[in-house]
Amino acid sequence: MPFPPQFLDELRARIRLSDQIGRRVKLTRRGREFVGLCPFHSEKTPSFTVSDDKGFFHCFGCGAHGDVIGFAMQSAHLSFPDAVAQLAAEAGLEVPVATPEERAREQRRAGLLEATEAACGFYERMLRSAEGDAARAYLAGRGLTDETISRFRLGFAPGGNRLGAELTSAEMPESLLIEAGLVRRRDDGGSYDFFRGRVIFPITDHRGRVVAFGGRIIGDGEPKYLNSPDTPLFDKRRTLYGLATARSAAHEKGRIIVTEGYMDVIALAQAGLAEAVAPLGTALTESHLHMLWRLAAEPVLCFDGDPAGARAAVRAAERALPLLAPERSLAFVTLPAGEDPDSLVRAHGPAAIERLVAGARTLAEVIWTTQVEGRDLGTPERLAGLEQRLDDLVSSIADRKVQFRYRAHFRNRLRDLTGWRRRGGGAAAPGAGAPSTLRRGSGKAALDRRREQALLATIINHPALIDEHAEMLAMVEIGDPARAGLFRDAVAACGDDPDIDSERLKNQIIERGNGEALGELLEADIFVHAAFARVDAELDDARAGFREVLAHSLRRMREEEVRLARDNFVNDPSDENWRKMEALQAETVAGSDGIMFPAEHERQRY
Ligand code: GTP
Ligand code: MN
Repeated sequence: MPFPPQFLDELRARIRLSDQIGRRVKLTRRGREFVGLCPFHSEKTPSFTVSDDKGFFHCFGCGAHGDVIGFAMQSAHLSFPDAVAQLAAEAGLEVPVATPEERAREQRRAGLLEATEAACGFYERMLRSAEGDAARAYLAGRGLTDETISRFRLGFAPGGNRLGAELTSAEMPESLLIEAGLVRRRDDGGSYDFFRGRVIFPITDHRGRVVAFGGRIIGDGEPKYLNSPDTPLFDKRRTLYGLATARSAAHEKGRIIVTEGYMDVIALAQAGLAEAVAPLGTALTESHLHMLWRLAAEPVLCFDGDPAGARAAVRAAERALPLLAPERSLAFVTLPAGEDPDSLVRAHGPAAIERLVAGARTLAEVIWTTQVEGRDLGTPERLAGLEQRLDDLVSSIADRKVQFRYRAHFRNRLRDLTGWRRRGGGAAAPGAGAPSTLRRGSGKAALDRRREQALLATIINHPALIDEHAEMLAMVEIGDPARAGLFRDAVAACGDDPDIDSERLKNQIIERGNGEALGELLEADIFVHAAFARVDAELDDARAGFREVLAHSLRRMREEEVRLARDNFVNDPSDENWRKMEALQAETVAGSDGIMFPAEHERQRY
């Protein structure tokens, strides 16, 4: 009683091997795999490994080996059908019962596979024949080598009804070709080939068996692409183009790239990026996501750099939310406007793709940006609306741990967001738009509100610190406009008179018109949190506290700059933007943050 292969695949995709095994064996993560003490023989040092990517466990001690079904069979001594039934119940899948009709259907599938394979061979031959001249020229014009053409088994469907004529036989009746989507019945009872005058892209299942075709018109015309209809072999919502060829590269690199089209997959593979697949003209489905997660923890999705691409990215992100798990997410690449992976890799080589992938955005980032960017959040109600929308999205995450992390993540970002804004509105321009635009507009990252207050209060109460740290303070960008004015005043006054004391400094600030901001600052509860900022604090204490906050702030600003540089590169992947991003990233990663304080009391300025 064989189970349908799609059902078994679905079952394997639904259940994460390390979760399943982890219930009986204590597993420790090691790189992309897990290790533990083998449950099948007794040992003291772990030689039992589990790979979610590969979907297999293996024991180097006793040679035990298998997939999730094999584990259930061996560990609980179940028969294959019993193991399948038990796992299916856990995964909430209904076990299909093999009826005589189903067995007949299996046989029918085998016949259909013979038909699609025969058709594939026919199209390949036609491409190599004289009739295929124009198609070959077209593919060569798109930069494809003969090797690539063979590897993807590209073909040519000539005009007329040649396929039907050639393939129909006693063993392969026309009805079978029709069911395989290769031939269509006409109303008058005659029939015609589904693909005519097109370049042919065979579509395979995960095992590399041809199940359907895509046909591209040669040159311009409508429709540009034609896909086989869904058949018993082919469900486009459960098929990814290129999966069989991409699989081993994906496992090797621990990465899978999802593009939009056939030509993208093929061009990337030819450029050495074999780990690419594409859905077949549909948005990514839940099945697609499960298939992708078997290949890599964070599939990289590429989207066009236009509004439609942005919408598609959001849809994919929201669809993935309920399915997220620890170490299981998505990464998002936005392509430069008007480009696709095919055109990019042809013009700039695989490095262009590597760069984009290096700058990919996280899923959390995509969700956040969509909710915040371009919106005016200048009222409490709008902010509450934002909070509500984020909350709803986070609630859709089924995994508790991930949901908890997302909640914390967005809460922090919300706090930062409100921290940027002036509390009373007032002098801040009401039309300033989203705070992220504000920050971006300045081209430089700003401090958060707390640190901003602590720094300002300290230098006003201890102006000697301004002079000591002039160089570093020059790097500081104050977000709040009124306080930015106050900061400028303080630095200027200290420039005029390096030995200025706190009282005179305050008077100067008031004279320069920033008394209101000063009053607000000195009334703030900041002194509760930062006692070193008080006017009666010892200078040494003030200096120590001040330096801690300053160092922290500069580091945070550096991180923010890296993020901005990455965004810039994603929006405009020029060499220049690449270099800027890399330079910043390298500094940050190396930990050489360049934050070095002058020796005590050392004068910096001249
Ligand atoms: P090229 O023009 O050959 O480079 O194709 P492309 O992949 O860049 O095309 P595009 O971005 O227009 O489309 C991306 C994918 O959407 C294609 O690979 C197809 O799978 C699908 N697609 C595009 N146009 C059509 C169409 O007219 N009909 C159908 N069914 N699918 C299409
Ligand atoms: Mn293209």
